[in-house]
Amino acid sequence: MKDLLVLGIESSCDETSVAVVKNGRELLSNVIDTQIPIHEKYGGVVPEIASRNHIEAITRVTKKALEEANVTFEDIDVIAPTYGPGLVGALLVGLSYGKALSFALNKLLVGVNHIEGHIAANYITYKELEPPFLCVLISGGNTQIINVKDYTKFEMLGKTRDDAIGEAFDKVARVVGLGYPGGPKVDKLALEGEPNIKLPKTHFENSLDFSFSGIKTAVINYNHNTKDVNKADLCASFEKAVTEVLIENVTEAIKQTGAKKVAIAGGVSANKFIRKAFLNLENEYSELKVYMPDMKLCTDNAAMIASAGYYNFIAGNTYELDLNAMPNLKIKEKVI
Ligand code: KG4
Repeated sequence: MKDLLVLGIESSCDETSVAVVKNGRELLSNVIDTQIPIHEKYGGVVPEIASRNHIEAITRVTKKALEEANVTFEDIDVIAPTYGPGLVGALLVGLSYGKALSFALNKLLVGVNHIEGHIAANYITYKELEPPFLCVLISGGNTQIINVKDYTKFEMLGKTRDDAIGEAFDKVARVVGLGYPGGPKVDKLALEGEPNIKLPKTHFENSLDFSFSGIKTAVINYNHNTKDVNKADLCASFEKAVTEVLIENVTEAIKQTGAKKVAIAGGVSANKFIRKAFLNLENEYSELKVYMPDMKLCTDNAAMIASAGYYNFIAGNTYELDLNAMPNLKIKEKVI
């Protein structure tokens, strides 16, 4: 089969990213223009400001992605923008740009689910990884255990009933005064602390669901009611508690499904403590192999979107120009 080049476009939150990926696995370019410094002073992403900045960045980022890949628009086979979930105004920028390219250049359009993109980040890091496997998706908007049955066939085994784990990291960072985005800052400070503060862990009976609102509130209360809070200890304790919950649920999912492969994905999968805990699973289960994306592929990027776009194209999922942004798009659950 001829090589297939996919132009991935990502603009669901505060990163404008465009990438060129060959055959779903080989990264030719992955340009990421982050708006973090712009939103930092507001303590979080301001949707309207995000949309405006995507508009200003998208053409420049696309040009750079083509240059770095050493290709032209003519060489591209498929245009694959994220169409959900995410901030609607932000999504519309990348999606409209992708649709315009598809129309003007007469190229196929494949809309990509951002969550499927995060899972696909693992395909770029591990050329040999193939479904089936379990994927623990831990990001700013989602916390899910997904049974990846095939490249475009998924089964949801468990998900958060309230906050996403990334939201909890960001909230803890704000409470202890670390600023936005909190996850990387909690990660760094926790390395200097001891996990000696007892925090609640939530489990549901006969369920692989998560809840992070209780621990978030516990951190807020502890910080409020304690004199001379040791911030590093608090960060380390928070990280340990949420990691234990993730590991306990994924261990149960491994038992239920007999999975031999477990991947993590999403922004929070960049966390050092969490990465170490998942790698440790290989020591406990001799037949288990653990996968985690390269650090630069954990947070939002278009290379993972291009990879998911490739597999959707192969599965025959192409889209018309009436495709709209879907801020609450869920993962497509299909029964084989
Ligand atoms: O995947 P992502 O870039 O966006 C979504 O699709 O949601 O994830 C962003 C989230 C933020 O909550 C950020 O604080 C968190 O990932 N994050 C981290 C780390 N790096 C990013 N959380 C913990 N440790 C990190 N090193």
